[in-house]
Amino acid sequence: MKNKPSGARSNDRSKNKQSNMSLHATARRNILHTAGDGTRTDHSGGKRISLPYAACELKRYIAISYRKQILKVSTILNGVFKLGTMPKDPYRKFVAIYDLVIGPTNFIIKKSRLNLVPPIPGMKVLDVGCGTGADLKSYGEAGCEMYGIDLSPSMLERAQIKFGGSADLRLCDAAHTPFQDRFFDLVLSTYTLHEIPYKKRSSVINEMIRVVKDDGNLLLTDFHTGPIRFPGGWIDKTFITFLEILAGREHFLNGHDFLARGGLQGLINLHQLNVESKRIISGGNVALFLLRVASN
Ligand SMILES: C[S@@+](CC[C@H](N)C(=O)[O-])C[C@H]1O[C@@H](n2cnc3c(N)ncnc32)[C@H](O)[C@@H]1O
Repeated sequence: MKNKPSGARSNDRSKNKQSNMSLHATARRNILHTAGDGTRTDHSGGKRISLPYAACELKRYIAISYRKQILKVSTILNGVFKLGTMPKDPYRKFVAIYDLVIGPTNFIIKKSRLNLVPPIPGMKVLDVGCGTGADLKSYGEAGCEMYGIDLSPSMLERAQIKFGGSADLRLCDAAHTPFQDRFFDLVLSTYTLHEIPYKKRSSVINEMIRVVKDDGNLLLTDFHTGPIRFPGGWIDKTFITFLEILAGREHFLNGHDFLARGGLQGLINLHQLNVESKRIISGGNVALFLLRVASN
């Protein structure tokens, strides 16, 4: 490659200088007006955006979308975990998976329950704390009249979907039900009493006693004080304890208090109910009591 002579090189430099100057001049000529909004108009009448202005706009856009994203994320988290608000319906979080998790355990209870009280068509059955309606279903399928009450709107909504209009479901507290005295042939309640606070537990039993017919029955199923059999009972106990912790502090403490006061047997003694039959399942963790009101 040949080196250019120094004169030629200085010629090149002056040519470059000239062309650069003409470029700047052209650019300057092109920019005629800078508007208040930061846009500049060229000869052709089109709008151009200056670099500092574009950078400013980009920064503003990023800030706005960042704020929007943060708002979206916090709304989603709040929906899932109910952050910052006390959950009014503690079952809302679990309702979607409730039947999936509790369904298999309910299957064993269902067998014992139907053995203790076989359904008779036309029989009036009330489920106290009916939840998603799994227990009522087995009586409904046999032609019984189904009534259910629950405090959780989300659980009751699930039951409503299951039954359509074939069950009378009410959103109410088990301590104050809208039913008339001695109306039901069977009042059943599964896994509900242990989560009711101590002060209200007796009112709930009194309400069950009020609405059951003289020749009717109460069928209560809940956690039992043991003894727990090894190893099956201990495996079940671990699973139950895990679910109780997951259900929240208040639920857990009520359950602990329920067992400390003797579980269902403690309530039966307190209300002088007659035990017609009893089944212990889940290795000693769960008890079913078929009861009759003592004065009957
Ligand atoms: C563990 S779930 C059991 C649901 C159903 N019985 C089952 O075995 O799948 C307990 C249910 O009792 C309801 N419950 C708790 N306290 C209640 C009250 N004071 N009155 C009515 N229902 C109540 C809850 O909303 C929940 O649906």
